[in-house]
Order: sequence, then structure tokens, then C-alpha cells
Amino acid sequence: MKALSGRTAGFTDSVIRRMTRISAKYGALNLSQGFPDFDPPGAITQRLAEIAATGPHQYALTWGAQNFREALARKQSRYMGRPIDPDREIVTTCGSTEAMMAAMMTVANPGDKVVVFSPFYENYGADAVLSGAEPLYVPLHPPSGIHGPAGPEFSFRLGELEAAFKQKPKALILCNPSNPCGKVFRKEELEIIADFAEKYDCYVITDEVYEHIVYEPHRHIYFSSLPGMAERTLSCSSLSKTYSITGWRLGYIIAPERIIDVAKKVHDFLTVGAAAPLMEAVIPALEFGEDYYDTLKREYTERRDLLMRGLDGLGIAHTHPEGAYYIMLDISEYGCENDLRFCEELAAKTGIGAVPGSSFFREKVNHLIRLHFAKKIETLNEALNRLEGMKAAMKKN
Ligand SMILES: Cc1ncc(COP(=O)(O)O)c(C=O)c1O
Repeated sequence: MKALSGRTAGFTDSVIRRMTRISAKYGALNLSQGFPDFDPPGAITQRLAEIAATGPHQYALTWGAQNFREALARKQSRYMGRPIDPDREIVTTCGSTEAMMAAMMTVANPGDKVVVFSPFYENYGADAVLSGAEPLYVPLHPPSGIHGPAGPEFSFRLGELEAAFKQKPKALILCNPSNPCGKVFRKEELEIIADFAEKYDCYVITDEVYEHIVYEPHRHIYFSSLPGMAERTLSCSSLSKTYSITGWRLGYIIAPERIIDVAKKVHDFLTVGAAAPLMEAVIPALEFGEDYYDTLKREYTERRDLLMRGLDGLGIAHTHPEGAYYIMLDISEYGCENDLRFCEELAAKTGIGAVPGSSFFREKVNHLIRLHFAKKIETLNEALNRLEGMKAAMKKN
């Protein structure tokens, strides 16, 4: 038979989702794929139950149900600091996953270059390849020792970033707050990117799914809010993380009409639309006041602090997340060459599912593994109990 398409030849299946399957195989506590083990807000689950009886059950408008887009525009206008037009500046997608892919296909032609910071969320490499673009990786350098509250972790070097811009990329992908390293980009860093985007006429595709999960004293700055940047930014995000509904698959692109007109076409032919009953059910969440977001932040801060204290107590070096809900552990002392094998053994021997750091880095990095902490306090305590056995169990790796 003829060979199948060569599009996916350059990448494997998702390592994150593979680790979820491996965790299930060993009955391990799955801290690999980032999703909560607690319930979404009652206001939206109750609404979903009502909608089961009343509908809507048929296709919504392709770029998102009218009332959903209006509620989203009100909420995002408040946070992003500019009025967003629900009819002209939003396309609703199946999660940020589709938003990022649609954004890439909106901007890039085959052969175009796209700047991606490394470490990166693993979908970006695949997004670039599937849309025919070539990723240009720019390292976010880890601090020399990851233990201890050192200065800004994972920063880029000006010369390396400009060298990438000099190759005339069509777009830069900005994951902020960042998965996996937990970096929240500083204003000065965003200004540097903005200056280059202007100077080299480059679009910026942001992935801001953790926009509301940011730890004090850090603040999330929407890239599109920088002077002159709204016109060249495709702001992608999602309701998955903010409302603990990763399975509802609701996301969006916000951008100027000129860009959204093209994104609407890409989205239409990719998926037709997001799920109509779920768009309807989530509207009460989009109308939550400030207290909801304060509580979200406080609860994630508690989870992060519990985990960091526990890891410190066990003498396990780790990153200090400024945002998002991931922490990277330093496994250098085990001297392993293959961090994927380390993670599989960790799942089998200590009952913890983690993601090998190498799946996020372009550079050769195999001394970090990623855990997520979108879990109940009791689950995190259980994880720490199991990690206590890590040193003894993994010593000979
Ligand atoms: C940075 C980042 N972008 C996108 C996603 C996927 O988001 P969604 O559920 O909206 O597709 C994730 C999920 O872990 C993520 O960490």
C-alpha cells in the first residue's frame, strides 16, 4: 500500500498523554497530565444538568454561541484592559489546543519560521510541523542550581532572541504563564519581545491558559496590552484551567477583526464548532466576580506551597513556580541518561506519574521531571508520602 502522510514523521505521540496511560498501567498517582481531581464550580455543573433537558443540543454558530461570546467578551475586556468586540474579535475553539493550531494556520504558510521558547508545551512543535512552519527554538536558560529562590528562572538571552528574529520569523509563540517551567514573563521581557515583534514585523501567538493562576508577587500581563501589540497578537486561551473543566474543551482566540476573519475560516473547517450545551452551561462562570479568581489563586498557592515545603523536607531540588500548576524536580543525582525510562520506573516503583523533562526541551536536558499540582490537598500529601520512597527506590537507576 502507499505510504501514509509524512506529516507526523517528525514527532511521536504526546509523551504527556503517554505518561497518563503508563500511570494507569501501574495504578500510579497521575501527576503527569495537568487536570484537576476536584470538581468544577457548582454553578456550572447545575446549569449543565438543566441544559440536558432544555438544550441547546444542535450546532451553535461556528465561531461560538452569541451569548457565550458576549459573556466572554465582557470578562476578557475587564482583564485584558481593552474593549473586545464579541462579533468581530473572538472565535471560540475546542480548547486552547485548537486555538493554537488554528492561530498557527491563520498566520503561517508552509516554510515560514516560528519562534518557540524552550522548554515549551509539547503541542507547539507539532502545531508548527502540521501547519508546515519551521520552529526556531530560543532557550529559556534554567538557573544554574534550581534549588533556592534564585533570580528570575528560565530567562532568555537578548542576543539569542534577536538572532532568531533576524531569521525573519512570521510569528513568535509565547506561553505565559509558562508550562512546564512556571515562568511568568516580566514586563521588561515582554517589552523586549514587543520591540522585536515591531522591528521585524512578526505576529505573536500567545497561550495564556494559566492567566488566572499566578502567585504573589507576580502579575500576569497580557501581551496584547503592550503599546502597539494588540494589532499583531493572537491571544489564545481556554476555560479548561480557570474553571477546572479540561474535558469541556472550550477555548478561544481573541485578535483584531482582520486576523479573526481568517481564523474563523480555519476553525470552521477544522472542527465546525465547540460543544453547544457546554458553551451555554459555562456562562455563569464567565460572570463570576473577583472573589472567584482570588479564591482560585489562594487555593493554588496553598497547593504549590504544600508541595514545595514537602519537597524541601525530602531534600528534593525543584523549581519555584511563579504561575501555572507545574513543578520540575531535579533528578541529577540519579545520573540517568533516559528520563523517560526513569519516569516509567518511578510510576512502577513509587506510584507517581511524572513527565520526563526532555519532552519539553529542545536542548539536551534529561535531569528534570515535571509534576503537576492541580490536585486536592490529600492527593498532594499522598504524593509526598510516595516521593519519600523515591531516593531508595530509584537509587540504582
Ligand atoms: C500551556 C498549555 N496550553 C494549552 C493546554 C491545553 O489546553 P486546552 O484544554 O484548552 O486545550 C495546556 C494543557 O495542559 C497547557 O498547559
